[in-house]
Amino acid sequence: MCGIVGYVGRHRAGNLMLDGLKRLEYRGYDSSGMAVLTANGLDLVKRTGRVKNLEEALTESQLGGSLGISHTRWATHGDVTEANAHPHLSSDGKIALVHNGVIENYLGMKKFLVGKGYSFRSETDSEALANLIAYHYAKEPEESGKNRFLESVRKSLQHVEGTYGIAVICTDAPDELIGARKGSPLIIGIGKGENLIASDVNAITHCTQNVVYLNDNEVVHLHNDDFSITTVSSKNVEAVIHQVDWDTTEAELGDYHHFMEKEIFEQPTALENGMRGRFSDDSSTAVFGGLNLSPQELRHVDRILFLACGTAWHACLVAEYLIERYARIPVEVEYASEFRYRNAPLDKNTLVFAISQSGETIDTLAALREAKRKGYRTLSINNSVGSTIARECDGGIYQHAGPEIGVASTKAFTSQIMLCAMVALYLGRLRDLSYGDGVDIVKALKQLPELIRDVLGQSDKVAAIAKQYASYEDCLFLGRQLMFPIALEGALKLKEISYIHAEGYPAAEMKHGPIALISEKCPSVFLATSGEIFQKSLANIQEVKARKGKVICIATEECDIPEDLIDDLILVPECHEIIKPILMSIPVQLFSYYVALERGCDVDKPRNLAKSVTVE
Ligand code: M6R
Repeated sequence: MCGIVGYVGRHRAGNLMLDGLKRLEYRGYDSSGMAVLTANGLDLVKRTGRVKNLEEALTESQLGGSLGISHTRWATHGDVTEANAHPHLSSDGKIALVHNGVIENYLGMKKFLVGKGYSFRSETDSEALANLIAYHYAKEPEESGKNRFLESVRKSLQHVEGTYGIAVICTDAPDELIGARKGSPLIIGIGKGENLIASDVNAITHCTQNVVYLNDNEVVHLHNDDFSITTVSSKNVEAVIHQVDWDTTEAELGDYHHFMEKEIFEQPTALENGMRGRFSDDSSTAVFGGLNLSPQELRHVDRILFLACGTAWHACLVAEYLIERYARIPVEVEYASEFRYRNAPLDKNTLVFAISQSGETIDTLAALREAKRKGYRTLSINNSVGSTIARECDGGIYQHAGPEIGVASTKAFTSQIMLCAMVALYLGRLRDLSYGDGVDIVKALKQLPELIRDVLGQSDKVAAIAKQYASYEDCLFLGRQLMFPIALEGALKLKEISYIHAEGYPAAEMKHGPIALISEKCPSVFLATSGEIFQKSLANIQEVKARKGKVICIATEECDIPEDLIDDLILVPECHEIIKPILMSIPVQLFSYYVALERGCDVDKPRNLAKSVTVE
């Protein structure tokens, strides 16, 4: 959740790390800090609030050193204060450390270290590890022939219970940077005469495109010109260098006001990129390069289990409808955080699918590992090339939606739905879905980018409607069948960025309780599509209207909705059922965005949230 950047080289570490922190700020933004080794010793600066506060506090000399570590925090232990911000120094001043994750046994460690004369300034778990490294460093004999700093980090990590991604420096080692991971992502950037550590590729692509993904229980020891990786228990590890093919401008705001706005408007291109090269020559099915499962093996799958969190979980609910309908395979959708602690019996022909934009969400990763441990085949859909989930699955599908920086997921969601629709098509064609139905679906998917552009063309209209509803404090999102997950997603979007209490419900369920909330103070956003259940949706709208609830209706063009039944109407083009969840999501995203803007909320960095949830 927090972001880490560390640097060892010949350039000004402070400047490079500051650039990195700005690119990582979406990971956590309650405080930030930097420790740089300069001619005058270890220079530490921390500030609460945004990275710009840290930037203002940094002096020329602090920026000038060529070894350093930095951090942007999302608080887990302790309040948002300068003392709790990272880096943390050992009480003897020798070790500086930044940490992502949670050290579960830190209280025991702290007690032991206090007994040994070490003192503490913060309420964090991380400071215990900085002191523990200092303790082992002080104990390590100078003449052991081993690198004292490295040994002390390794020894300390052997005592840690919990998760960590760390970067550490030592005042006695002016050209050494050490990193390690267990359960929290960490990558190494290999430059010319300089090397970096970061929690996210995004933070270092301005310096190098060559990266090594560190695995759990590995420790990296970096100098200017070389690096080596060992395990915590000192076994050598061979590093594999990957080239990241990342256009750095994609992670910049350009002419947009917010990343969320940019990412909403990028959806036609993001989806085009996700479908490129993924249709068969006869345009009747999808093709995927990285599933690592033969059509024969996939024909034997008799159940699919989807695992995810948040918005990605909503995409899984759409997948459930689509795969059951088009491929006739039973699907279950589980919150990853629940599945990991349940001992769910699964059939041996169950295929487990994890969906995660970041590929680093700890609950999804842990659930996936649990499924792997039980011997199930695992696949993933994710947007971050080289992420832990992508690497640990047996196979998968990359979204190619481009970096998503806004904390509220938008383009990643629609791209996940599109890929789920393509999976439904592919699995369906391996079974009973006809050639003609396949051709129709491919045609519909290929039309998607253009249809999304049409809907985006109505953004001014949606903004005007949003303005009218920005002062309400409650809102319901209602939809049936495929629109139910979109209703859930609409409610999540609105609450996370505008702090309006919102709930998503299957429209027919309203009568079983939520209808009690309806009044002139609680508007409802109805998601209605043409087809067999349209009349039922209309009846649900009537029920709301009869109770003086305002109704904003988002509907497909062929829905015949009496004007007096609704207060505001947004129409999207009529289209094949399989792409309706995507098209209907666009006005929902725009509505939330404009409501939040109207309320003066910080759209890209909503309170209490972080982009990637890497702690339990
Ligand atoms: O990176 P992931 O897709 O695994 O993230 C899952 C959720 O944390 C994420 O979708 C979250 O709910 C978003 N903030 C929603 O906008």
